[in-house]
Amino acid sequence: MAFNYWPFINKNKTTTEKDTQITVIPDHVAIIMDGNGRWAKQRGLPRITGHKQGMDNVKQIVEVANTYEVKVLTLYAFSTENWKRPEQEVNFLMKLPQEFLSVYLPDLIKENVKIEVIGHLERLPKSTQKAINNALEKTKHNTGLILNIAMNYGSRLEMVDVVKSIAEDIRLNKLTPDQIDEQTINQRLYTSHLPEPDLLIRTSGEIRLSNFLLWQLAYTEFWFTDAYWPAFSEHEFKQALLAYQQRKRRYGGLE
Ligand code: FPP
Repeated sequence: MAFNYWPFINKNKTTTEKDTQITVIPDHVAIIMDGNGRWAKQRGLPRITGHKQGMDNVKQIVEVANTYEVKVLTLYAFSTENWKRPEQEVNFLMKLPQEFLSVYLPDLIKENVKIEVIGHLERLPKSTQKAINNALEKTKHNTGLILNIAMNYGSRLEMVDVVKSIAEDIRLNKLTPDQIDEQTINQRLYTSHLPEPDLLIRTSGEIRLSNFLLWQLAYTEFWFTDAYWPAFSEHEFKQALLAYQQRKRRYGGLE
């Protein structure tokens, strides 16, 4: 499908200057990018135009996160439940990573961004898998922001994978049941090498987790906004950071 015939829509404005009011930066920000469809509907556009605009907004927000020296940005791009959508929309979403990388990979490389992915990629089209593998390879030595894209990701599926891996180690006598602790699980998560998210943002006014990083979000701070993802701009990102720095994180203990 040709993307270049799509209506031109103004991009959100971003600056590359840090707001000096923001002094506490979360290492890991996770975002549930919701509201592409409603954003498009409000404008009388097809849902997939919302997804295309959402894709462009990913690049804008990567720039902002990079400016604030966030270390990891995990984005929920396609869930294991999103297969229930109409075939045309699923096909479009399946191609988005490829489209994103064909447009933005050169910039991301220059900006020292390291691309990673979590989820069951084997169900994605071969061409999308190829584009992702190429991006992983080309950015593997980059030392800036880790852009971690969750694609065909579901937290329950991740837990099933963890349980299978533990069961297999028990079968092979590498592990006994009484040796299982939180570390045994942490080491087997798709995100085992990453810090847990400090801040979770969900756009579009929905207040739920939708099977995203259920284990990893145990002590994460949540921030919700009514803005639809394509309209989520530097301004909202800064609002989230300002709210985050007011939070007192006690992890179940006392201050
Ligand atoms: C939810 O909004 C959004 C998605 C299912 C897709 C999110 C994907 C992107 C923002 C682009 C992905 C970019 C890359 C780089 C792969 P919705 O469609 O459910 O919105 P609605 O609730 O308003 O209908």
